[in-house]
Amino acid sequence: MTETIPQLTSYDAPAFEAAFATLADEVRQQSAALTTPEAQENFRLHWLGRKQGRLKLISDAWLKSAPPEARKPLGMRFNQLKQQIEQALEAPTAATATTSAAVQGIDITLPGLTRHPGIPHPLLETMHEVVRVFHHLGYSTNLGPQVESDFYNFEALNFPPNHPARDTQDTLQIAGQQARPSRDRLLMRTHTSPVQIRTMIAQAPPVRIVIPGKVHRNDAADATHSPIFHQIEGLCVDTDITFSDLKGTLDHAMKALFGSAVKTRFFPSFFPFTEPSADVQISCIFCGGTGCRKCKHSGWIELLGCGMVDPAVFASVTEERRKINPDDDAYNPEKISGFAFGMGVERIAMMLHGVSDIGHFYSGDMRFLEQFA
Ligand code: PHE
Repeated sequence: MTETIPQLTSYDAPAFEAAFATLADEVRQQSAALTTPEAQENFRLHWLGRKQGRLKLISDAWLKSAPPEARKPLGMRFNQLKQQIEQALEAPTAATATTSAAVQGIDITLPGLTRHPGIPHPLLETMHEVVRVFHHLGYSTNLGPQVESDFYNFEALNFPPNHPARDTQDTLQIAGQQARPSRDRLLMRTHTSPVQIRTMIAQAPPVRIVIPGKVHRNDAADATHSPIFHQIEGLCVDTDITFSDLKGTLDHAMKALFGSAVKTRFFPSFFPFTEPSADVQISCIFCGGTGCRKCKHSGWIELLGCGMVDPAVFASVTEERRKINPDDDAYNPEKISGFAFGMGVERIAMMLHGVSDIGHFYSGDMRFLEQFA
């Protein structure tokens, strides 16, 4: 590209018009051929090179002999031309992109780079599955704090102070609480049941909620225990709720989770906040009830605790509600009744996926987690 410097015959507008139109054409034609990075660089040097660039040579030549009043319009024309050149350099053509890919040697026949999207943790997935079953029955979800007060975790649930039933919960206490009244002392919640109390204080019946969440107990870790684990709580309070509603609801939920062939049975049990209380067993999902190692040859697997809400719980709730409205009578056990249930998420997840050690869920080991992808 060695064009000569064009001559400017006069310094009026029509002469400018003609001369710069010729230059603009020159730029346009050359920029159409900018298909490689090398061609682009040559074009840049040819026009914008600091000493021998065509723009510099022409503007030097024309401005040198220009009368003073022509300098400004001439300068503006050169600026426009410069912009045109820069735009041609900024917008690499599709041809440039393809050619430069080829220059870098991209082999489109190689397998692509796979991006692995994240998946929900198997415990979270199990919680969602259980919660979904109850959402279909018209339940909604409530959550509560993991650091809880003695009142919500124990007292309002009819665990009197120093009652031996508290020992079964292996509570992790928060340090430095001795100066506080016992009901305000903080602890890590040992179950999701305190959210029953929080919900009823905040809301009059009808109540239908499930409460998924983390709970903490001072348990030594082994293949089936962990000091931090997950529960899903359920609470239903309304007029005329009976034990058969509880049985029907849980029987339906177990069939929805484990398959319609699953049977349930209820055994008398004890929880301070339910009366009567029951433990629920389901027919073994591995052997169908004939007996195997998983069900210790009994044909049944214990899965959850439940019962009818104890009137003493309604009494605690009413006492709290009356601090706000002295006439409150929403949880009068003469008018309403309810049931509650609670289950361990890890246990269900272990059964559904055949996991033999609870520790796998918390290890963060990709070889374990990837199996759920
Ligand atoms: N909160 C009880 C536990 O953790 C389970 C339960 C919940 C029992 C609701 C009955 C009703 O052991």
